[in-house]
Amino acid sequence: MPPSIRVALARGDGIGPEIVDGVMHIMDAAGVADHLESVEVEMGKSVFDKGDSRGMTDEAIRTVEECALLFKGPMETPKGGGGKSINVSLRKMYGAFANIRHFQSLPGVETVYSRADIPVDFYVVRENIEDTYGGIEHRLTPDVVECKRLISAPGSDQVHRAAFHLAQRLGIESVHCGHKANIMKMSDGMFLERFRTVARDYPDITVDDVIIDALCMNLVLRPQNYKMVVLPNLQGDIVSDLAAGLVGGLGFAPSANIGDRIAIFEAVHGTAPDIAGKGLANPTSLLLSGLMMLRHLGLLKSAAIIENALLATLESGVHTGDFGSKDVPSVGTMEYAKAIASNLGKVPGTRQAVHVPDSEAIDYTPSERPRTNELIRTFHQMTSTHVGCDIYIEDIMGPQELAENLQRISAHSPFELTMISNRGTQVWPTGSAYTECVDYYRVRFELRDKSRASQLGQSASIALLSTIGERFAITDFQPLRNYDGKPGYSLAQGQ
Ligand code: NAI
Repeated sequence: MPPSIRVALARGDGIGPEIVDGVMHIMDAAGVADHLESVEVEMGKSVFDKGDSRGMTDEAIRTVEECALLFKGPMETPKGGGGKSINVSLRKMYGAFANIRHFQSLPGVETVYSRADIPVDFYVVRENIEDTYGGIEHRLTPDVVECKRLISAPGSDQVHRAAFHLAQRLGIESVHCGHKANIMKMSDGMFLERFRTVARDYPDITVDDVIIDALCMNLVLRPQNYKMVVLPNLQGDIVSDLAAGLVGGLGFAPSANIGDRIAIFEAVHGTAPDIAGKGLANPTSLLLSGLMMLRHLGLLKSAAIIENALLATLESGVHTGDFGSKDVPSVGTMEYAKAIASNLGKVPGTRQAVHVPDSEAIDYTPSERPRTNELIRTFHQMTSTHVGCDIYIEDIMGPQELAENLQRISAHSPFELTMISNRGTQVWPTGSAYTECVDYYRVRFELRDKSRASQLGQSASIALLSTIGERFAITDFQPLRNYDGKPGYSLAQGQ
């Protein structure tokens, strides 16, 4: 029977082709090719070098969409110029909203924790699309630059559901949400609120939340207390690397990017230009990512056999140059891969073997290509009313003088000046002379007559914006709205 599943394979740059060869050698030896056909696609440096700033050919994009699966080696991101990180572009373009990484102590990989006999075994599920990773940045004034941080309810729902679904599948009993909702009450607050809401659909799983800074400390002090942590994008990015450090580095941290339609499996380390082409690279991270892919497809038997062989090999002391005992000579990438292939069928002796099911349980059908962009929504029925606006202006006058000017200009508007803040701290009507200011103010206007909230639309505040724009340099405009009667905007520090 021909293989039933096609996977797009991008060999990557630097050490990419070497570690891909190593991993494919092991997979072929395990008979994975009976179920999986790999279709090579061109992505990375060679495409950037031809002047294509996407770093991937049209054919590669088409093939990934057809297969709905991509297995990839690391790729070089051009420094400077227009070329963006392919890894980030792929996740966003294909809606691979959940980045799943598994961190576990491995035999033969010595760490502070393995020496102290503290087992590390937990998952980080990171939101992959939103947050500051939209890269929406502007220079607002000569002195101030902004990066927009977007957190959406449906985007949060997707990643939380993916985390709970995975926890359920793996029998994980507790899931934590990491956040900074004590400071970013609305954005991280939304992420946390959606976590609690989605959790109600998974009553068998214990949930808790933890502030990100405490989480970092706890992970270092007591990693065994966590089984799965779900996080917003930037915080998840940082915690993922912290977690990789607990298990011996990025060379042992597999990664899956899962969406509703397309899934991408990759090593998290880079192209290691310092050792590229020398046959020295460690393929373990890519192999573990490949095992995540096999499990995603239901190839549970092959995944278990390969994982047991990997563990048995590591126990035997075989290692590449980046880890392992200095008393045992290291081997190259392919020799390491061949050692694992020769151990297929063996099980580890120092820890529990992974259960090998009697047969594969293939459960995979690539989803159909959507005809257009899908709109994802969480809140369909919410009512919003316009209650004012925050206008951001570039100026170097002091808060009191600024307020007097603005009050004069807005005297006939339905909105009155209620607050001026600088870098988020209120400096008018009250504030401290010790608060240093930069050339970028937020000035808040709210309805003089609150009972008119349902009558006035945004055009009244746009008219005010236009009037203020005649006198001041505007850098940004933010309508203030209440949602179902609750303010959809934060207060300034000190307000
Ligand atoms: P890197 O991960 O490539 O290298 C950091 C250090 O770790 C180097 O000393 C390297 O030799 C070592 N190392 C990494 N992977 C290894 C492996 N499998 N076996 C043995 N040693 C390994 O990070 P760096 O130097 O910051 O980035 C190099 C390039 O990789 C850049 O162009 C960057 O954009 C790209 N990159 C790509 C990623 C991806 O495709 N997922 C992720 C991170 C970086």
